[in-house]
This record gives sequence, structure tokens and C-alpha cells, in this order.
Amino acid sequence: MDYRRTYLRDLLKGEPGTTVDAYGWVKTRRDSKTVSFVQLNDGSCFADLQVVIESGTLDENVVKQLNTGACVRFTGELVASQGGGQSVELKAKEVELFGAADPTTYPLQKKGATMEFLREIAHLRVRGNTFGAVTRVRDRAAWAVHRFFQERGFRWIHTPIITASDCEGAGSMFSVTTALEAVPTAEGSKYVLRQSDPKQDFFGKPAYLTVSGQLNVETFAMGLTNVYTFGPTFRAENSNSVRHLAEFWMIEPEMAFCDIVGDMNLAEEFVREVIQDVLDHCAPDIEFFNQRVDNTVLETLRHVAESNFERMTYTEAVKHLEASGESFEFPVSWGMDLQSEHERWLTEKKVGRPVILTDYPKEIKAFYMRQNEDGQTVRAMDVLVPRIGELIGGSQREERLDVLEARIDELGLEKEVYWWYLDLRRFGSAPHSGFGLGFERLIMYLTGMKNIRDVIPYHRAPGQADF
Ligand code: 4AD
Ligand code: MG
Repeated sequence: MDYRRTYLRDLLKGEPGTTVDAYGWVKTRRDSKTVSFVQLNDGSCFADLQVVIESGTLDENVVKQLNTGACVRFTGELVASQGGGQSVELKAKEVELFGAADPTTYPLQKKGATMEFLREIAHLRVRGNTFGAVTRVRDRAAWAVHRFFQERGFRWIHTPIITASDCEGAGSMFSVTTALEAVPTAEGSKYVLRQSDPKQDFFGKPAYLTVSGQLNVETFAMGLTNVYTFGPTFRAENSNSVRHLAEFWMIEPEMAFCDIVGDMNLAEEFVREVIQDVLDHCAPDIEFFNQRVDNTVLETLRHVAESNFERMTYTEAVKHLEASGESFEFPVSWGMDLQSEHERWLTEKKVGRPVILTDYPKEIKAFYMRQNEDGQTVRAMDVLVPRIGELIGGSQREERLDVLEARIDELGLEKEVYWWYLDLRRFGSAPHSGFGLGFERLIMYLTGMKNIRDVIPYHRAPGQADF
């Protein structure tokens, strides 16, 4: 056995008459008097290989064990397929059962499993149609992300996961500490404090899981010009929403000598190109999502890959929302942070395609955003898309040392923590911009999946850290 086996993806394009080995897991088996049909899948593509077993050719005891979930190798001859669907099927001559799956206890049976149930068996769900397709799309999209940036000369920077500074200044961070120890008790376990002084803790100061790689990646833009980071980020938002995770992946490009207009241009080109790449390379998976999950996915993606995004300021957006006549749960007024219901109305009802909002009130945005001349707003830009709401958050950065320091003071943040970030403004400062795209939100958009927990291998959310 060698990894250079032929995957089912390639066998399905094979020549009738050739003898091949087919490895995979049984999706289903159907028996008639003279023949059994097995649908075999190895995850290399959406389609299954149909294996035809004429009675008498294989050991009946083994055939009986070819239940859903069993892992097997067939050797046989590719023959032209009788039915529609595939062009070839496999006429089995030999079988090797690697692992049986007892049909009375195997949890991933053929039909009717809800997404909630599948989440409880997240270690097995990748063998099913939906999560297999999600995983292939996710893989392709990640590849397309790297391709997009690498083709444009952006360098991939591996920013740290453990940090001592809060990038977004929102305080929803997880602590990283060795000060606590879990000890067993009669009820389960409890924490015991080993010591309470951060100076005595592992890093000699309070440390956290990063909420964003932006601050670190900015330092590399101030030397390599165009860079990006793509990795896991963490937020302790106690939110049970279908759009938030406690651990999610973010893509954050950062560009020196680029203003907010260039930032928006990059964001738009980026989203459209990744969508086109996935359409080009995952057609059968997207077709499945379109048929079984959301019948608008294909049309939406094709449309978005070709159309320009609308651009409007926050102030204009608020005016549209106020004039909309909709009764929102959260009434709209200038200065408020837009809620998902507002974002969705703007992109779905008002514009009917992605929209980029700019120039938000400074009070609702992070400390590092460049202030506008009006003293009220900052050069922020959010990309909103139908069904998801906010897909991207970004901005031009404040490159003026005095303005940035004043803002940090005004917000009561600890200037000492940001000393190195301020150094970038002290020595060779440059206008620069960047953004962050939530990778799981992009996957939701690409697949039509409704819950963000179903587009990541193992979801982390309040009360949820299984597997
Ligand atoms: O808008 P955010 O908070 O922006 C930043 O973190 C900036 N530092 C990015 C930058 O300019 N380099 O987050 C960026 C994106 C959001 O638009 C959203 O798509 C996603 O990250 N996101 C989440 N995705 C899943 N679960 C969460 N809890 C998320 N929080 C943000
Ligand atoms: Mg945001």
C-alpha cells in the first residue's frame, strides 16, 4: 500500500477494461437476488464509485459486512456504467475488508441526520456528503487565498498566537496562564490558584490568545511592503450566534503605501477571485450545496464573481436605514454600531449585492484607525454581503504618532503595551492599510451553510470544546 494510489476521483475518469484497486468507505449497499451494489467514497471527490458485486464472485460473509461506514478495498475491472451519473463503475473481483462498522451502532447512517446531530459526531461527519463537501471547499478556498496573495507578491507572515496586546481593544480575550491548576475533586475538578502575580506567571506579564494578527503583521508591512497573515484567532465573545466562533481563522493583508481606496480595491478583487477559483475547482460540491442546502448559492456566487461592490459611507447607510420604513429590533441612529439586521438589510434589500461601508464613527471602531479631518469618523471599511452581513473589517491605519498616542490615551489603553507598535510611527512611518476576512464566514457564503459551526472541522463556542 502506497500513498500514490489512484484516488476514486481519478478512477471515475478511468478507461473501461482496466483493472484497478479502489479504496474507501461504504456509503450504502443494496442487494438484489443476483447482484449487490456498493456506493464507495474516499473523499477525493463528491461522486461515489458504484461497485457491482455479482453473487458468487466474492466471499458472502465479507459482502454481508459491507455496511455503511465499513472500510474496504475492492479490486476489479472498470466497466462502462449502465445508469446515468458516472461513466464507469467497478465490477468487483476481489475484496479486502479493513474495518467493519456495526449497523446497529454506527452513528452516521444514510439519511435524515440533522446538522445538530452531526455536530455531536464531528469526528465522523466528514464521511457524509455535506461535511465532506464543506471540507473540500474549505481546502480549495485556503489554497486560493494563498495563490491570490502569492501571485501579487505578498509575503506570508506567521504572526504569533500568544500575545500581550489587545489588537481590537475590545477586551474579549482568552488568558494564557500557568497560574491555575485543575485538581480532581469528588464533584469533578476545580481550579487552584498557584500564584496571583502576573510577574510570576509564565510570560512574566498577562498574556492572551490573539484576537487578530494585525499589529504584528503591520510591523512586517513596514519593511516588506505587502504582507498577509492567515491563521487562527480567538475571541471570548459570549455569543451563541450562527456567525461567531471562539476560535476562527482570519486572513489579514497589510499594505504599505496604500490608502483606504486601495484597501477596498484589494478586498473586492480578493473576494471575487477566491469565489471564482472555488467555482472553477469545486463544481460538483457547489452543485450539491445548490441542490440540497441553499438553491441561491450558485447564482449568487456567479453574480458576485462578476459584479462591482457598491460603496457608501456609514453616514449614507444610516440615512438609508432611517428612511427604510423597516421596524428593526435595534432602532437606527448615527453613532450606533450597526447590527446584523441592519447590515443584512443594506446588502440584501437596498443594494442586492456586496456593499462596502466606509468612514464609521470613531467611537465604535478600534484605536488604530486613521482619523478623518471631521474629527468624528475614521477611515474604516467593512465589506457586507447578503446572508452573512460583515465578511471583512479593515481600515487605513493611523500613521501619525501624535494622533495615535492621543487616541490611545483618550481610550484609557495602556500605552506601554503598544510601545513597539508606536515605534513604527516614530521611525519611518508610512501611510498603510489592511483588512481582516473571517475565513469561516467566507465558507458559509460559498456553501450556503447556515451555521458557522458547520464549516470548521471542530467548532469552539461557549460551552463547546469537544473533540
Ligand atoms: O472586524 P474585525 O474584528 O477586524 C479585525 O480583527 C482587524 N484587526 C482586521 C484587520 O484590519 N487586519 O474582524 C475581521 C473579520 C470580521 O469581518 C468577521 O468576518 C470575522 O473577522 N470575525 C469572526 N468570525 C467568526 N467568529 C467571530 N467571533 C468573529 N469575529 C470577527
Ligand atoms: Mg469588524
